[in-house]
Formats: sequence, C-alpha cells, structure tokens
Amino acid sequence: MDFEKRILCIGAGYVGGPTMAVIADKCPGYRVELVDISEERIRRWNSDDLPIYEPGLDEIVKRNRGKNLFFTTDIPRAIAEADIIFVSVNTPTKTFGQGAGQAADLQYWEKTAREILRHSKTDKIVVEKSTLPVRTAEAMERILNSRREGVHFEVLSNPEFLAEGTAVEDLLDPDRVLVGCMNTESGRRACEDLEAVYRHWVEPSHILRTNVWSAELSKLVANAFLAQRISSINGISALCEKTEADVDEVSRAIGFDSRIGSRFLRAGVGFGGSCFKKDILNLVYICRQHGLEEVAQYWEQVVRINFWQHDRFVSNMISEMFNTIAGKVMVVMGFAFKANTGDTRESPAIRVVQRLVEECACVRVTDPKALGNARRDLEGVEYVSFYDDPYEALEGAHALALVTDWACYRDLDYRRVYQLMEKPAFLFDGRNLLDHEALFDIGFNVYPIGKAPLRHLTVK
Ligand code: UDX
Ligand code: ADP
Repeated sequence: MDFEKRILCIGAGYVGGPTMAVIADKCPGYRVELVDISEERIRRWNSDDLPIYEPGLDEIVKRNRGKNLFFTTDIPRAIAEADIIFVSVNTPTKTFGQGAGQAADLQYWEKTAREILRHSKTDKIVVEKSTLPVRTAEAMERILNSRREGVHFEVLSNPEFLAEGTAVEDLLDPDRVLVGCMNTESGRRACEDLEAVYRHWVEPSHILRTNVWSAELSKLVANAFLAQRISSINGISALCEKTEADVDEVSRAIGFDSRIGSRFLRAGVGFGGSCFKKDILNLVYICRQHGLEEVAQYWEQVVRINFWQHDRFVSNMISEMFNTIAGKVMVVMGFAFKANTGDTRESPAIRVVQRLVEECACVRVTDPKALGNARRDLEGVEYVSFYDDPYEALEGAHALALVTDWACYRDLDYRRVYQLMEKPAFLFDGRNLLDHEALFDIGFNVYPIGKAPLRHLTVK
C-alpha cells in the first residue's frame, strides 16, 4: 500500500508509544513506525505483553499493528524513509559534571540528532517530543544543518502534555496541541505539515502555534505550575494537622473559586513521576544560568516541599507507632507513582521504603502493576519482600501505608484486613483515598494526610 506520509518516532517509551499508536489509529493513510535502541522493548511492543501499561493502549496497538503501525530496531532504514521524525528519547537529569542534579542530560538527544544526520538523504521535519530545556531546538538545528549538503532539516517543538494513566484519553482529547516553529518560510511550512497530522482528530482551535522557545518553555512551566499546586496544598496539609482544619475541606473551598479551580489540589504523600521534579530542576538551572537566583529558589522550594512531605509521612508513622518500627512488618500498598500505571520513576514509595528500611522495619510491597519496576528500584535493599496479593502481604502486619491511589485499594475487605493484622492496627492513608470513619469503626487507628488522626485509646 502507498502511504501519504511516513512518520517515525525515535524512542518507544511512555511518550512515544501511546502518541504514535494514536496517530496511527487516527491517520490510516500514514505509515507510522517506532524505533528504539532497546531490542527488548521493541520485542515487547510486537508481542501481547506491551512494555508499558496504559489503559486503552492494548486495543489501539493491536488494532493497528502490522497495518500502518510498526515497531523495529532498524534505525538507519527507518530514518532514511521518514518524512517526519518525532524524537522522544529520554532526557533524564544529569548525574555528573556541570549541572549535575539539575540540568538535563542531553546525550541521548544529541546521539539521536547525529544518527538522523547520518542516515538522512531527503529533507526531514524533526519534532522534539521529549521535554527539553529552552533553546535545545536551536542546538539541534545547528547539528542537523551543519553538514549534509542538499538535505534540509526543519526542527519543531511539539511538547507532550499527556499524563500517565490517562495517556490515551489525553491524546484523543487534548486540552491543546502546542507546535513551536522557527519564524521562517520553511518553518511555517513544516508547522503546517505537523498541524495537518493533528487536524485528523483535534479541533483547529485547540492547536496553538508559538515560536520554538515559547513551546519549549511552556512545557517546563506547565509542569512547574501543576507541581506547585500540589506542593502548596501539601504544605497546607501540615498546617491542617496542627490545627482543626481538614485539608480536603480547604481544597474544596478554594477550588470553588473559579480563578483557582479544583484540579491538582489533592494533598498526599507527595508527587512523583518522570516529569515534575526533572522539569522544575531544569527550570531552576536555567534561571540560575541567567543570574535569576531568587526565581531559581522560588521554584526549587516546590521540590523541597515535596521531599519534605515524603519524609513527614514516614516520620509520622514512626512517632505514632511508639517511636520504634524496628522489626515491625510495614506494608507499603502501591508502589507506582500514581494509579493506573506501572511506572515507578520518582515514586514517593521509593523514599518511603528506604526510610522504613533505615529504621530496621520489615517492609512488604504490593502493587497491581508496578512490582517488576519495584524489584528493580529496590534491588539490593535488604528486608523488603514483594507480594502480588495484598491480603497475603497484610498477614501479621503492624501497619499499612497506602502510597498509591489505586481504586482497587478502596475496595479491599478491610474487616478481613483488620483480622489479618497485628493489633493495634495502624493505617496511614498517604492519598486520602479510603473511608476513614468506616476504618476507624472497624478498629484501625487511622492517619490521613492533613486531617485529625482517628486513634483508639484501647484495642477493639
Ligand atoms: C505530568 C503532567 O500532568 C503532564 O501534563 C506532563 O506531560 C507530564 O507530567 P504525570 O507525571 O504522568 O503527568 O502524572 P500527573 O497526573 O500529573 O501526576 C503527577 C504526580 O502528582 C503523581 O504522583 C500524582 O499522584 C501527584 N498528584 C497529582 C497529587 O499528589 N495531587 C494531585 O492533586 C494531583
Ligand atoms: P519517556 O517517558 O520520555 O517516554 P522512556 O524512558 O519511557 O521516556 O522512553 C525513552 C525511550 O528512548 C527508551 O525506550 C530508550 O531506550 C529510547 N532511546 C534512548 N536513546 C535512544 C536512541 N539514541 N535511539 C533510539 N531510542 C533511544
């Protein structure tokens, strides 16, 4: 079959995978291909056991795979054949040298750019999908247009705003699609081409065109603002615990103000995920580089509060359990950084488990989708065991710490859980997910975030 256009995505991860699957689904006339350096990932994309869990993704992949959606490790051929190349390789925080701990590690991006340069024989539109610090597109443009005579590369920024767990939904019905281009004739033409892809299913009024730098910066700023709301409410949750205020009531009350809005005001054990911390630290680094120390410190505090919130959660567990948890069985319920994903990058659960282990507790971890990643994250950590079945994990446990807001944890049989656990039974709800009064009536000592604890003076 002759395809209208050939689209390639380099990097078949949490962003590239779902994004390309949806493009293939909505644009049957395009050939969509994904490549990755990880043979294992590509093997799994071609199998029944996809490498990432995302509600609704299985169906879309199975419906289109082999028709106009392909997964391969043959990077040179795929580059040579593509018209539009999306780049969604990882851009982790640098762990070495200048900017370590804050700046983005761009080595994967640069390698990819050089690979594109090496294998291109025709003009290409190169689309930044990975979140990159401001002005990276310029560097890309320079690398790409540095050598090959007669081949022109147009670099666009098209940041991804999908959230894990709702990636397919977010892609099908995005709040907006942002396309940043150079203000040149060829830049605008490339923009048209990319916008035409999205116009297959997105209202034109939701497709925003900006300059490249605004698009890159907007991604960092959107994530910084979202994370800031969480840190703000988490800070207030601590104040609620010291007073008689209830953080859920405060969130609801302020969220009704249409200027503030109700979303992203759920207090909890803190945010996780591959984006928030990384993007804020990037923003902080960029501000520092421009001599804006006060601005850098302002955003840095969002990350600090988050870390403090993880630690506050564990410190509270220790002090409520008579200042010692050594030898006690502590069940961490949920290890993913949020519900409906198996992703554990920057999950608050990692810090929680580490702190519990430091206190010589015996930690049992359970999660419906993230145990594989949890085992990897906690490799070499002693006194941790993993359970598929939460009831098995809870047998003989002294405490239950709910860290991920999986809906299935709301539906557990808590009478049975109470029977299984040692008494007094402690329940720390790090996501304010459960029915605290009902749990208290069963007999648990219940510790929500940002509201008064429900303690039994005697064991029921
Ligand atoms: C985020 C952005 O939402 C998305 O637009 C961007 O493209 C990537 O980063 P993601 O990290 O997948 O997406 O998940 P998100 O739903 O934003 O949640 C991030 C973290 O914040 C999770 O740990 C979540 O549990 C926590 N959170 C979220 C809260 O603690 N309270 C809230 O009210 C909302
Ligand atoms: P994200 O959440 O941003 O999608 P992931 O880590 O899930 O991040 O995905 C990035 C993918 O990019 C990984 O599967 C990784 O193997 C792949 N990758 C990294 N560098 C290259 C490269 N030079 N060529 C092809 N794929 C790459």
